[in-house]
Amino acid sequence: MVLSGEDEDQQWQVLLSMTVAITSGLILRKKLCSQQPAVRTTELRSQHFCVTGSTSGIGEAVVKELVRRGAGSVVLAVRDTYKGSKLVKELRDAYDIKSDDEITVVGLDLLNVESCRAFSQAVIEGGPLGKTTCLINNAGAMFKTFHVNDRQVEDTMMTNFLAPLYITKALLPTLRKNAKFNSPSRVICTGSKLEKRSELDETTTLDDLRGKNDADDYSLFQAYANSKHGIHLCVNAMADEDSVVKYHTASPGMVNSRLNRFVNPSVLFFTWPLRKLLLNTPEHGAASVLHAATSHEAAQSTAKFYDSNKPEKGGFGVTQGASVEKKIARRVYGQATIILDEVFR
Ligand SMILES: NC(=O)c1ccc[n+]([C@@H]2O[C@H](COP(=O)([O-])OP(=O)(O)OC[C@H]3O[C@@H](n4cnc5c(N)ncnc54)[C@H](OP(=O)(O)O)[C@@H]3O)[C@@H](O)[C@H]2O)c1
Repeated sequence: MVLSGEDEDQQWQVLLSMTVAITSGLILRKKLCSQQPAVRTTELRSQHFCVTGSTSGIGEAVVKELVRRGAGSVVLAVRDTYKGSKLVKELRDAYDIKSDDEITVVGLDLLNVESCRAFSQAVIEGGPLGKTTCLINNAGAMFKTFHVNDRQVEDTMMTNFLAPLYITKALLPTLRKNAKFNSPSRVICTGSKLEKRSELDETTTLDDLRGKNDADDYSLFQAYANSKHGIHLCVNAMADEDSVVKYHTASPGMVNSRLNRFVNPSVLFFTWPLRKLLLNTPEHGAASVLHAATSHEAAQSTAKFYDSNKPEKGGFGVTQGASVEKKIARRVYGQATIILDEVFR
């Protein structure tokens, strides 16, 4: 049978309408499914979390999952408290949470000495932070240019290493007080396998840890690697001396998050589809952090380095970061403590 031009047109129109109808149906179905009421469990009822940098990316994914699993309380320690409050409202609405103190926001800008001190004071005063059983040091950043603050600390070392160490030490008495025999308190750091590029070793000086020496040949990735290795070494040294609190580092793998904003904008623009395709989602990246923070397995051990890219049955593979040899860890921790006394006194 030979179709006239008009018949062919009609056939195309029918085909097009069917395609549009089916696609719309599928989109609608997906939307309706995702609008199912959120179901909240109670498995983390006795645990109380403080998560830094939880207004985006991995930290936001961690907070959402902790709330979904019924955490006793979650404190979002964030520098953008407006954004933090919006997320709190979203979560309260999603799970119909009436109580004010189950999810709260506390201001914390790791680049700002006064803000870190205020956080430390808030810990002493109790309030929502007084219940903390797990601190998740997640906030982190990279910086395109070299900048040293008025306390002689470079911004990357301050944000990812020295300020998180300061707030960890500030929370330690609380974490110790709240630890139970069968439920130890925990400190979890969102680490990075880039730490393998770290230059910290047994010859590291105080100025290396302040990141002061890099003015002439500053590299964003080098500073980032040093900072991530620095905090990893310190929490491992703390783990060595502590039988009450467990300390772990968790690598999220390469995640498509706002952390990328520190990279050249034109590179970002042209690699958008590739990043979407190849990089982990924040939820995937958060998995090892959540495992370290909540699993029974991680409560039994300390100073592990979990890897979101190595999921194993019932847990996560432990990956090999940079050297965390005890001698180097003790040296770096000792030096970092001296710097904290100078910077935050
Ligand atoms: N993305 C990756 O591929 C990757 C890989 C390995 C490790 N990590 C680590 O994962 C953690 C989360 O990063 P992400 O990928 O989720 O990136 P992100 O979306 O940029 O999240 C970083 C969070 O840290 C906060 N932050 C940055 N500077 C801060 C400061 N001075 N004081 C307080 N909070 C600050 C940010 O707050 P603002 O919104 O106010 O900026 C944001 O909430 C970081 O520690 C990062 O180093 C990421």
